[in-house]
This record gives sequence, C-alpha cells and structure tokens, in this order.
Amino acid sequence: MEVIIKKDRESAGRLAAKIIAGLINRNPAAVLGLATGSTPLGLYNELVRMHKEESLSFRHVKTFNLDEYIGLDPADPCSFYNEMHTNLLKRIDLAEGAAQIPDGRAKDIVASCEAYEAAIKRAGGIDLQVLGIGHDGHLAFNEPGSSLSSRTRIKTLSKVTIKANARFFGSEERVPKHVMTMGLGTIMEARTCMMLAFGKDKADAVAATVEGPVSASCPASVLQFHQNAIIILDEEAASKLQRHDYYIDVYEDKPDWQRYE
Ligand code: PGA
Repeated sequence: MEVIIKKDRESAGRLAAKIIAGLINRNPAAVLGLATGSTPLGLYNELVRMHKEESLSFRHVKTFNLDEYIGLDPADPCSFYNEMHTNLLKRIDLAEGAAQIPDGRAKDIVASCEAYEAAIKRAGGIDLQVLGIGHDGHLAFNEPGSSLSSRTRIKTLSKVTIKANARFFGSEERVPKHVMTMGLGTIMEARTCMMLAFGKDKADAVAATVEGPVSASCPASVLQFHQNAIIILDEEAASKLQRHDYYIDVYEDKPDWQRYE
C-alpha cells in the first residue's frame, strides 16, 4: 500500500486528479471506476478544471460507478446517477454511453448485477478505481461482514451508513435500505485502487484499513492484498496511523521517476 498524507483535502484532491490525468495521458482510452459521496468532490472539480483549462480530454474514457440506491429514479436528486452527472459526468467530454452506473430501478436485480460485471469485463477491466471509505470501514456499499471476494450484488445498508447518508435525504427514514454495489472482489480486480479519506471522523476506519488485520469486519482492509493501492489522506484522517511519520518519509524520499508531483 502506498499511503500519502497531504496537509488538507484540497491538496489531496489535486494530487488524485494529477494521478488520473497522468493515466489518461498515457492511455486516452482508460477505464475509470468512480465513486460518489463528499470525498471525491475536490478531485472531480480539479478534473473539470484540467478539462477546461489544460485540455484534458475524456473523449475515449469509459467510466463505471461503484454503487446505486435501489428504487430511486435516476432523476431523484439523491440518486448517485444524478449526483455523478451533476458533479462530473455532465461537465467533461465523455462520449455518449461511456458512463455506466448500476441500475437501481432494474426489475431483475440479479441479472442486472451480472450484466454490470460483464460490461466491466467487456471494457477490458477497470484501470483505476476511485474509492472513499465509510465510518464503518465500508468500501463502496460493502458493509462490514461482506465477503472479501464478493461481486456486484444487492446489499442492505448498516445503521451507521444510513445515519451518515441521512444528510443527503433530510432524514434517516428516507434513506433507501437496499443498494446495488460492486463487490470487494470486483473492486480488487481494478489495476489500481485509489482510496481517499478526509477528516478526523474517518481516522479510526483508516487506521483499521491500513494497519489493522485484514478482515471482513473492516471491508476496506482487503486493499492490503492489492498490488497497487494508493491511499490518499489529509492530516486528520491520518491522525491515528502508527506509521504516520514513515509514510511521510517514504513520500518525500521517492526517487524522481516515481513521483506524481
Ligand atoms: P463520504 O462517503 O465521501 O460522503 O464520506 C464515503 C463512503 O460512504 O464510502
């Protein structure tokens, strides 16, 4: 795992955008895995800025989102479809049909999940998957107890997640209980996993992910098994890491050829 600690979420978002822009410059037809929530907003704003001001083009890029609420209309302001289009997809030059998001309105959820997995495979797999982390250590909507090799499927949200996401819906009662989410096995097949976490309320989940045992009780800890996992944190989210100073040294002492910035 490469743990990068930046002083704040703004500089962390800029670094994450630089890593994605580097990938697209090397491979203009890159396949990106995208995440919703507040964490990647700075990253998405920076990608939009690079698109407008530095002619970063997404014309040949394909995207797959991690998850979606079941039962919400795509036009619902709380759907991840709507959130993703508002925050990024409508603001860049993706080709028609290049962005896929699990279909929370599918009549046959099992078939729809299988089709989503097949679409990822047809696209050649995900080159870089953007990830946030839940307070309970969830990755996408893989709540604690999720199989570490799970595939795209229906999940029931935990109370912790319902509480955290109530801010978007106005009340806990209005948060859908069920979601479709890529599985941990699906996520682990991405060639690079880039997880972002900011704020002191994420510090325990981050410490369990990076320095705790690998366990379904902290689903994000599965990233310890990933060959190429980049964890980008602000100081607050990194505040409970025992090897904090070592991660800073590693980043500062990177050989030039390994540097992102
Ligand atoms: P957040 O959500 O970015 O809004 O904190 C992250 C998550 O639940 O995975």
